[in-house]
Amino acid sequence: MNLKVMMVFGTRPEAIKMAPLARLLQNQPDIDLHICSTGQHREMLASVISAFDLHLDEDLDVMTRDQTLNGLSKVLLEKLDQSYQQNQPDIVLVHGDTTTSFIACLAAFHRHIPVAHIEAGLRTGDLQSPWPEEANRRLTGVLANLHFPPTEQAKLNLLSEGIFDNCIVVTGNTVIDALLWMKNQLDETGWQPAPGSPLTRINPARKMVLITGHRRESLGHGFEQICLALSELAHRYPDIQFVYPVHMNPRVHDVVHRMLGHHDNIFLVPPQDYQHFVWLMNNAYLIMTDSGGVQEEAPALGKPVMVLRNVTERPSGRDQDRDMLVGTDREKIIAQTIRLIEDPVYYSEFATARSPFGDGHACERIVKRLQEWKRSQSLDECA
Ligand code: UD1
Ligand code: UDP
Repeated sequence: MNLKVMMVFGTRPEAIKMAPLARLLQNQPDIDLHICSTGQHREMLASVISAFDLHLDEDLDVMTRDQTLNGLSKVLLEKLDQSYQQNQPDIVLVHGDTTTSFIACLAAFHRHIPVAHIEAGLRTGDLQSPWPEEANRRLTGVLANLHFPPTEQAKLNLLSEGIFDNCIVVTGNTVIDALLWMKNQLDETGWQPAPGSPLTRINPARKMVLITGHRRESLGHGFEQICLALSELAHRYPDIQFVYPVHMNPRVHDVVHRMLGHHDNIFLVPPQDYQHFVWLMNNAYLIMTDSGGVQEEAPALGKPVMVLRNVTERPSGRDQDRDMLVGTDREKIIAQTIRLIEDPVYYSEFATARSPFGDGHACERIVKRLQEWKRSQSLDECA
């Protein structure tokens, strides 16, 4: 009997980080994979599915405009419960710390279905930041059976919470598998943005700063400060191009367009599909982001990354990276950008390719552990 694995994801980052795993699982003769998208992100997910050539078995289509967390959770719980009842998976795979991840885990727990948690064990220690993600991942950690942390530090976090060692495998982050796969595709084909793409306006002879942001804890004042800093920097450096793919959350989109929509050298563009976004990262001089995934990807491409957050659950292990944790403080963002632009020696300290978050083989380690589990027919020690 094949192992019936059900993969659940709903947001853009979950889909990108699960995509290489889905591709690998689909090729295992002893595994039947069922991919369930909750559709928490409708538009931003569709482009990931096509970029990785995935086939969804199910789309729960839960997204509504400006959804509340409780409204979203209620619909997710109901629809996932029906799906589990119908599909009877042997194990459910969830990723990271979104509302989809936690509710998919809770719904499986209620039905006594084992859960494997990918990108487990990331912690800031502060339930309010990132909010609600720190709660989602801790709660998922309590209920999951198998834990796949990306780093040794994340494993230590799990051990300190009482998770048994033999239920944990350190894998590296699957986002590096996804990134290397996509970069390879782009390099092999000499890929360039298609005619008609707003990215064709970028002049390769000029420096480009790439920006993303979406964190709920920065909505309001935090985003206004980021926008004020970008506005000042764009004014100070008219030759630098600031490219900002704006997240679809209306509470992000509206403030960014209102405050930055009128600068000649700030390009506000829609969320980019993964090919275009990897191309953007690869051509950036500097990246500013509050995204977890981008923070992991940038060093693998040798790109300096400024983190627009006060805390991070993704320590790089290097002292100098503390300078890059600038939060949403306007003055700090401006001062650190000026330093990176005007001091080439300092810049070069951050511009060497290295991969503290994964080696590109995370998915193989996950599949191997799932197959071991199938052979032993028991998760008792990880119940
Ligand atoms: C969600 C996750 C967050 C993750 C982020 C990645 C939760 C609570 N938050 O935050 O952990 O880091 O995704 O991007 O799970 N929207 C669209 N189309 C889309 C996607 C979003 O219109 O394709 C709009 C909708 O109005 C939606 C709103 O954005 O209501 C917010 O989306 P939601 O998934 O609730 O939260 P995010 O802030 O995107
Ligand atoms: N990304 C993308 N297009 C964009 C912006 C980001 O494909 O316009 C990718 C990025 O490379 C990373 C992931 O989306 O892999 C990050 O998603 P997001 O910032 O929404 O969430 P987080 O990483 O903070 O959970």
